Amino acid sequence: MKGVILAGGTGSRLHPLTRITNKHLLPIHDRPMVNFAIEALVNAGIDELMLVTGGTHAGEFFRLLGNGHEHGIDRLFYAYQEEAGGIAEALGLAERFGAGDRICVMLADNVLESSLRPAVENFSAQERGARILLSPVEEVEHLQHLGVPELNGDGRVIRIVEKPSDPPSKFAVTGIYFYDESVWDVIPTLKPSGRGELEITDVNNWYVDQGAMQYDVLEGFWGDAGESIDAYYAVNDFVRAHGVNKP
Ligand code: DAU
Repeated sequence: MKGVILAGGTGSRLHPLTRITNKHLLPIHDRPMVNFAIEALVNAGIDELMLVTGGTHAGEFFRLLGNGHEHGIDRLFYAYQEEAGGIAEALGLAERFGAGDRICVMLADNVLESSLRPAVENFSAQERGARILLSPVEEVEHLQHLGVPELNGDGRVIRIVEKPSDPPSKFAVTGIYFYDESVWDVIPTLKPSGRGELEITDVNNWYVDQGAMQYDVLEGFWGDAGESIDAYYAVNDFVRAHGVNKP
């Protein structure tokens, strides 16, 4: 399985910090944010990675990561996203890298306490389709800023709603996604959403409609450090106090 780390976008919710750097290069405790996503994938045995980024600070990722070897990456590829056209558009840039294999996609602002390895094993055992990771979230206001699944109670996803005004469950769809090769056929069919982006939730709902979407519920802490300045500090505080990417 190959890994794709998405580190583009405008980081507008963290302005003005992100006027002078890429969001995923901001520090979380003792390292730039993107290092946590890399560590999560490498620790789960995924060591062939593509990093997709954009904007004026893209070159800084070379300075930080180089050929990736120092970070446990066997082969590191880079792609450049010209405009922040959405998560699914950024993923589309990895098509030639990912073709012929299954992929694990991770948004570079997501930080998790527990290992990704069980989910990687579950997806490897899955015959086809896609897999998402859910995290329990209590506050309705928080869920309104995320993707939220409607679940049918016997382990099936009925649909995923992006930024729902009325969240259909108490789970967030985290920014970690597993896809088989069909994903490369789905992305070109997507239409921009109301916010003008190609949405990863539309990709996921395609798999839901095929009856090919499965999920795991993550154990322990999960945070999206790019969601707001408060979320950024909440993730920092958790990492400092408890550590993340545990075996
Ligand atoms: O963190 C989990 C959430 O991430 C999910 O619950 C949502 O369903 C999903 O849509 C996403 O929501 P966000 O509103 O947080 O997405 P955001 O626009 O902040 O983009 C997240 C990351 O994706 C960002 O840190 C970098 C990457 N990205 C984003 C865009 C828009 C790109 O690489 N290129 C892009 O054009």
